[in-house]
Amino acid sequence: MNDRATTIESARARIAAALDVESLQALEREFLGKDGAVARALAALPTLPPAERKDAGQAANRLKQEVLAALEARRSVLAESSLEAERRAEGFDATLPAPPVERGGLHPIVQVTRELEDLFVSMGYQVLDGPEVELDLYNFEKLNIPPDHPARDTQDTFYVAASDSGPGTGSAKLVLRTHTSPVQVRAMERLTPPFRAIVPGKVFRQEEVDASHEHTFHQMEGLVIDKGISVGHLVHAMRTLLRGIFGRELDVRLRPGYFPFVEPGFELDARCPFCESGCSVCKGTTWVELLPCGLVHPNVLRQGGLDPEIWGGFAFGLGLSRLVMLRFGIDDVRHLLSGDLRFLEQF
Ligand code: FA5
Repeated sequence: MNDRATTIESARARIAAALDVESLQALEREFLGKDGAVARALAALPTLPPAERKDAGQAANRLKQEVLAALEARRSVLAESSLEAERRAEGFDATLPAPPVERGGLHPIVQVTRELEDLFVSMGYQVLDGPEVELDLYNFEKLNIPPDHPARDTQDTFYVAASDSGPGTGSAKLVLRTHTSPVQVRAMERLTPPFRAIVPGKVFRQEEVDASHEHTFHQMEGLVIDKGISVGHLVHAMRTLLRGIFGRELDVRLRPGYFPFVEPGFELDARCPFCESGCSVCKGTTWVELLPCGLVHPNVLRQGGLDPEIWGGFAFGLGLSRLVMLRFGIDDVRHLLSGDLRFLEQF
């Protein structure tokens, strides 16, 4: 072994054996200081025969790099062990098991919403959003529900008091949307037909609250705009929806239903997914009322800027909160938004 190797080896060994920061500083001076080993070797270069200078210069640089690396490594070991000593003095034990991590879960409404979004996106629908504080214009008027129309009474409305700008009047009045249907017209105004869209979201009604009525609940609107749309298309889409929700084919039936923004309008019932001969969910009838739907009224198409002679469509308004209750066997809609962890932790 030559001298240089010995120097590097011994420098490493001495640095690794240093017991404190002060000893490390002394070693740093000894090797890298102004009169240290590296400086001396570099200073001696001009006195060497030219043939040896290159090797000797490289060796001095190598010694410098190795010493720097060894100092750095030893410093972090010493720092860690002094930290450890401090922690022990404070009674900290890094080997104790950590307290269990509390895991959150998705709210049942979010779970079902995401499943339905996946299902509809796979069928070419896009997922849209709309304002929860909505203009009367979109919540009612453009949906063929003029002021004083009796249909307004079926959805008791929270009106929003306008502040600085003074109280809004007429169609400029602001409401908490009573359904997701206003997004129908917003979608027609924004998108180029043909298109398919769903709109999951929160809606608000001034309701007498009970086990099946909340003042704040969730709906999911569906809207398909295309040429030549018929009730057959609507029924097919609803069957697919039910298969997605309940995992199997369910018979459906349509009863006439009145909503000013569809013509004809229907209430769609499905065979009870839980029984064959009557149970508490279907109240012994074997049918559960599932969702209102219908063909988009020509006036609504016009409000959305579409020519009803060319374009048609169907729409449905799924009661998402009620569907979540059916799906998970929840008997009171008020649990859903109660924020009660004893309820939520079951999902
Ligand atoms: C509507 O809101 C219409 N916009 C639906 C529609 C859309 C019809 C498109 C035609 C075409 P309705 O008021 O019936 O309709 O409400 C729809 C669903 O919301 C109901 O079937 C029910 O499942 C649910 N729902 C209504 N009120 C409440 C409430 N207070 N609490 C929980 N769910 C409710």
